[in-house]
Amino acid sequence: MDLTPSYQSILKDHFLSLPLIIKKKLKHALSILALLVSSAVVFVIITSFQPLSLFRLGFLSQILPSNQEKSCDYSYGRWVRDDESYPLRSYNENCPFLDPGFRCRQNGRKDGDYLRWRWQPHGCDLPRFNARDLLERSRNGRIVFAGDSIGRNQWESLICMLAEAVSNRSAIYEENGQPITKHRGFLSIRFHEYNLTVEYYRAPFLVIFGRPPKNSPHQVRTTIKVDQLHWFADKWMAADVLIFNAGHWWNNDKTINMGVFFEEGGKVNMTMDVLEAFRRSLQTLRSWVINNLDPERSHTFFRSYSPVHYRQVIHVNGTWNEGGTCDKQIEPETNYTRLEADPINNQLISHVFKHMRYEDRKVQFLNITYLTEFRFDGHPSLHREPGTPVDAPQDCSHWCLPGVPDTWNELLYAYLLSMGFRTTPVRKKNITSH
Ligand SMILES: *[C@@H]1O[C@H](CO)[C@@H](O)[C@H](O)[C@H]1NC(C)=O
Ligand SMILES: *[C@@H]1O[C@H](CO)[C@@H](O)[C@H](O)[C@H]1NC(C)=O
Ligand SMILES: *[C@@H]1O[C@H](CO)[C@@H](O)[C@H](O)[C@H]1NC(C)=O
Ligand SMILES: *[C@@H]1O[C@H](CO)[C@@H](O)[C@H](O)[C@H]1NC(C)=O
Ligand SMILES: *[C@@H]1O[C@H](CO)[C@@H](O)[C@H](O)[C@H]1NC(C)=O
Ligand SMILES: *[C@@H]1O[C@H](CO)[C@@H](O)[C@H](O)[C@H]1NC(C)=O
Ligand SMILES: *[C@@H]1O[C@H](CO)[C@@H](O)[C@H](O)[C@H]1NC(C)=O
Repeated sequence: MDLTPSYQSILKDHFLSLPLIIKKKLKHALSILALLVSSAVVFVIITSFQPLSLFRLGFLSQILPSNQEKSCDYSYGRWVRDDESYPLRSYNENCPFLDPGFRCRQNGRKDGDYLRWRWQPHGCDLPRFNARDLLERSRNGRIVFAGDSIGRNQWESLICMLAEAVSNRSAIYEENGQPITKHRGFLSIRFHEYNLTVEYYRAPFLVIFGRPPKNSPHQVRTTIKVDQLHWFADKWMAADVLIFNAGHWWNNDKTINMGVFFEEGGKVNMTMDVLEAFRRSLQTLRSWVINNLDPERSHTFFRSYSPVHYRQVIHVNGTWNEGGTCDKQIEPETNYTRLEADPINNQLISHVFKHMRYEDRKVQFLNITYLTEFRFDGHPSLHREPGTPVDAPQDCSHWCLPGVPDTWNELLYAYLLSMGFRTTPVRKKNITSH
């Protein structure tokens, strides 16, 4: 498993934990959760206040035509079945830039309805994704994704979406001839005709993960240096579009429970908890953005948490390594009243990014958590990469492609349009000068 989606452990510590959306047929099996559920309902009422008021705003803006760009919140809406524009809308699994693990149909998935849903924000429409337009706008540029494997999921989606507008497929290639699959370092796909690269850097914590300082306590195997951005950051500097993500690794299972502690100022801090460490790493990212990125050129995004959907079934715990499943889900959740609490990570991220906006930065929190919560039908589940043992845990954290991350990229495109994104033309040499 590339990542441990045991987000629950953090949430529990902060009393934000809500049981996963409970399917009717499982209700009887979950009586033990009844108490939790009843307290959760109160919480849902409180947390759903914001979406409700957003809905009212969206509703008003439909009656009173106003500046759509300004009032539209793409994060809130619903999934609508879309048989008409499918399959014209999208690429298919033959896109050569897809990791085998995301090609669910080729790995045996029989149902295909998960491909037929379109995200409809309340009160406005998402602009139709136009690959040729985005390629033109990105000419001579660099689009960089940095983060964990869900970031790679989104990166592959964008490459395949863009590739639809390029007729000569051999003019799109990985610059170092690397295969596209689980990867430790980085991958860079060049769109030759546009002199554009779309790059992915594997950096699950975004900051440095490495050897502890000398004389650290013996239980410290590795440290996360919350005040030093990943070494890859030098390569992110001149990007035109940067899409960060993190979250799936910021939990106790991937850190403290494995002997991974947090380091600051060259010293291990044995008492710093994972959320505080995440907060500090975001501050490190923020300073880096402000000190290193050109405010004119760079468009910086931070994608919110991508929910995982390990269902609890009778007598089995609903976590990734304890038999949680998602293979029975073939349609999105349609009861929009049932949503989980927004993960606290998202609030930390959006807080940091909000403050950067006051400094005239083109930054945007790419809030996809709510829309993604309803798509428990979009995961590879049993249909993982060829060669996966049959008794391996299901994959209910990554996404089939084509699939849900395409929608994240539609939001990305919409925000780029609203920022007026276009790379500056390469300056022609002045042939009359010396
Ligand atoms: C993300 O979007 C959802 C849906 O609009 C909203 O409920 C939530 O508060 C947003 N999260 C943050 C941190 O802004
Ligand atoms: C390609 O883009 C780079 C900037 O990313 C620029 O320096 C270079 O001159 C461009 N090449 C061509 C042939 O336009
Ligand atoms: C396709 O792209 C490759 C690599 O850039 C190039 O060698 C080839 O000539 C192109 N083919 C056509 C038909 O344009
Ligand atoms: C360790 O981190 C905590 C915050 O989590 C902070 O309050 C404390 O002062 C730090 N300890 C040292 C020795 O820096
Ligand atoms: C479920 O988790 C609990 C607590 O972690 C453990 O005691 C129990 O054995 C687990 N059950 C199964 C079926 O794995
Ligand atoms: C939707 O979920 C809520 C909360 O669990 C429940 O009260 C309501 O009856 C559900 N609606 C439908 C149509 O299933
Ligand atoms: C090109 O160089 C010449 C001579 O130095 C100068 O007069 C002219 O303004 C330059 N043109 C541009 C577009 O920079």
